[in-house]
Amino acid sequence: MARVAIVTGGTRGIGEAISLALQAEGVTVAAAYAGNDERARAFSERTGIQAFKWDVADFYACQDGVKRVEAEIGPVDILVNNAGITRDATMKRMTYDMWSDVMRTNLAGCFSMAKAVWDGMTARKYGRIVNIGSINGQAGQYGQVNYAAAKSGIHGFTKALAQEGARVGITVNAIAPGYIDTDMVAAVPEDVLAKIVARIPVGRLGKASEIARGVTFLCGEDAGFVTGSTLSINGGQHMY
Ligand code: CAA
Repeated sequence: MARVAIVTGGTRGIGEAISLALQAEGVTVAAAYAGNDERARAFSERTGIQAFKWDVADFYACQDGVKRVEAEIGPVDILVNNAGITRDATMKRMTYDMWSDVMRTNLAGCFSMAKAVWDGMTARKYGRIVNIGSINGQAGQYGQVNYAAAKSGIHGFTKALAQEGARVGITVNAIAPGYIDTDMVAAVPEDVLAKIVARIPVGRLGKASEIARGVTFLCGEDAGFVTGSTLSINGGQHMY
């Protein structure tokens, strides 16, 4: 039987590339999205991948969402926590809501989704969880105390959960993308982005498919010895 995956934020940007790459590996994918119905409908028509709507910032919506996927498609073997938002501003201008929105979506969303699939994966003794962190969680970024804190939290969450999953066949890994050619990065002011790209040794933005390539590796049946790791895919911008 084909493995079943949930990809959060799976209808656009990096998530779309991940959904397509997993589908190409023979995985049955459920793409979760929170807001853009039109994009989700177009995505499903184009790819044949079913889209499910819920907000990962809402703990109970995650529980219900996973139940819906399991009822319609089957037990979840793979979870890719990709959904993320930015609310960039310097500390002086950042409001509590900007902090909180990013923490709830980007970090609490990983907990809520992992919680919703954990008992099933544990009972079946198999799971692949990949959390999408960020170079900015590793290195920090001017104007992103919220996003950097949430993404940095994802890296700690990954290492802690990996230890709990290790004995029951569940691997938990993170990918730390650099600046990838998506709507999120396109929203960075042009002059600021030009300076960032100038510091990328490879000399360009990354492609969403280059992140998806890492996800399919970590989700492979034969990747059971890879757990608690962070794969940096950033064109050499930050090496550590
Ligand atoms: N280091 C030091 N100083 C900096 C700086 C930096 N990296 N960036 C800006 N500054 C300085 C500016 O030079 C300016 O100083 P002066 O007033 O003396 O000229 C001051 O800070 C204010 O800068 P801005 O005019 O840019 O301030 P703003 O309030 O209009 O905007 C900002 C601030 C929203 C943070 C804007 O700079 C910005 O959007 N920066 C990009 C942040 C970023 O990289 N976000 C990543 C989004 S994509 C993503 O997150 C995906 C991923 O995982 C990689």
